[in-house]
Amino acid sequence: MSKIWTKKPMSAFENDMKSSQLKRVLGKWSLTAIGIGAIIGGGIFVLTGTGAYYHAGPALALSFVIAGIACVFAALCYSEFASILPVEGSAYAYAYGTVGEIFAWIIGWGLILEYAMGSMTVAVSWSGYFNKLLKMFGLHLPDYLTSDPASYTGEGFSMNLPAFVIVLVVISILIKGTKEAAKANNLIVIMKVSAVLFVIIAGVFFINADNWNPFIPAATMVKEGENMKEAYGIQGIISGAAAIFFAYVGFDAVSTQAGEAINPKKDVPFAIIASLLVCTGLYILVSLVLTGMMHYSDFNPQGKYPDAIKAPVAYAFEIAGQGWAGYIITIAATVGLVSVLMVMIMGQSRIFLGMSKDGLIPKMFSDVHPIRKTPAKSLMLLGIVIATVAAFTPISKLADMTSFGTLFAFTMVCVAVWILRKKEPNMPRTFKVPALPVIATLGICINVYLIWNLSHEAKYLSLGWLALGVIIYFTYSLKNSKLHKVGYGETFKAEQEPLEKPDLD
Ligand code: ALA
Repeated sequence: MSKIWTKKPMSAFENDMKSSQLKRVLGKWSLTAIGIGAIIGGGIFVLTGTGAYYHAGPALALSFVIAGIACVFAALCYSEFASILPVEGSAYAYAYGTVGEIFAWIIGWGLILEYAMGSMTVAVSWSGYFNKLLKMFGLHLPDYLTSDPASYTGEGFSMNLPAFVIVLVVISILIKGTKEAAKANNLIVIMKVSAVLFVIIAGVFFINADNWNPFIPAATMVKEGENMKEAYGIQGIISGAAAIFFAYVGFDAVSTQAGEAINPKKDVPFAIIASLLVCTGLYILVSLVLTGMMHYSDFNPQGKYPDAIKAPVAYAFEIAGQGWAGYIITIAATVGLVSVLMVMIMGQSRIFLGMSKDGLIPKMFSDVHPIRKTPAKSLMLLGIVIATVAAFTPISKLADMTSFGTLFAFTMVCVAVWILRKKEPNMPRTFKVPALPVIATLGICINVYLIWNLSHEAKYLSLGWLALGVIIYFTYSLKNSKLHKVGYGETFKAEQEPLEKPDLD
C-alpha cells in the first residue's frame, strides 16, 4: 500500500526534460499571451450580471479583487514550481515529485475537470455567442442544429453543431503545430484585450456615480429561481468571488506549456504572474464600469430588463443608447473564446502527456507526431470526446465544476510547494515565493473557502468524479505506473547519485 505514496525522483523529471520530443518554440510574450488567451473569455462578459445582482452589488469589483488575490497566491506557488520543474503536466507533475503518486493522480484527474470539462463549457458558450453574431447579420441556424437533445423543445434529432465544429477546428490548428497555434493565439489576444479596453474606455462616459451608492449594499434576501438566497454585504462579496471565479480560470495553463518554452525556468513564472495581473486589472475596471453604468438591481431577471443578466456588458451599452457596442462585444467574445478553447485543449493534452509518460494512462497519450512534434493522437481523441459531449449534453451550467477542478489544483499546489521547500530547501530555484508559509496558508484557506461557496450540485458531482478517479487508479494506473516497473527503477538509482542539473536556460 505504501507504493501509492511513491514520489517521482527529481532525476526522473530531468531525464524526461532531456528526452522530450516537443519543440521549444515559446518565448516570454507568447507564454504571457497564452495566459491571457486562456483567462479572458466569456466569463467577464457573462458572469458580471450574476455577480452584481445575486451577490455583491457595486462591490462586485471587490469580489474580483478577492478572486484575483486567491489566484495570485496560487500563481506565486505555481511560479516557484515552474522554476524548479519546467515540465509539462502542471500541478500533476509538481505533486508527483513532492507528495506522492496517489496525490498526483487525484490532482491530474481533477485537472480534467478544469481543462477538458472547461473546454466543453467554453465550446457551448462559444456556440451561444456565434448564434448571436449570426443573428446580428440576419442569419439564423435552425434550433435543432444549435440545441443539445435535452434542451431541444422540438421533435426528432438535434445537436449543438457550432460547438461540435469549433472544437474540431481548434484541434486541427493544435495538431498542425504549437508555433502556428501560438501565432493564432497572439492575434486573438490582441483583439480581445482591445475589446475589453474599449468597454472600459467607452463605458466611463456613461457612468452614473449614484449607481455606486451604497457601494456595499446591506445584506438582504433575493429570489433566485424558486428559492430565496442571501445576497450583498460582506458575505455577498465573498460568494460573488466564487461565482465569478470562472472568469479567472486559465492562467495556470501557462504551466502546462513549460515543455515547449525556450527559457522555461524564467519565462514561465514571468508569464503566469504577468497574465494574471493584466487580467485582474482589466476585470476590476470592467466591473466598476458596468455597475456604474447600470444599477445592480436592474440585472434582476424578474425586473424591467429580464435579459440583462444574460449579456450584462452588451446590455449596459444598449440601455445607454449605444447598441452598436453590443456588436463589438459579441464579436470580441466569439473570437476571444476560440483562444480560451485552444489553450484549454492544448493544456489538457500536455497534462495527459505527462501522465502517460509516467504510465498512469495509456501510452497513446504521449505519442508525439514525428513531423509536427505535437501529441496528435491524444489531441484527436480529446477532440472527438470534447466535441461530442459539447454537442449532445446540456453542460452550460457546469462552469462551477470547472472552477472546482481549478480551485482544487490551486490548493494542492500551495500545499506541495511548501512541502518541497521544507524537504529540499537547497534545490536551485530561479523564482522563490516570498514569505511562503504566509502566502501558502492564505492561498490554501482562500481557495478551500471558495470551493465551499460553489453550488452544492457542482461539489457533489466533482467529488463523484474524484471518486471515479480513485477507482481507475487502483484498477489501472497503479499496475501500469512506470515508477513501480523495473525499467523505471533506474530513476531510483539516479536519485541516489543525483544527475547534474541540466541547464535549460
Ligand atoms: N476564464 C475563461 C472564461 O472566462 C475560462 O471564459
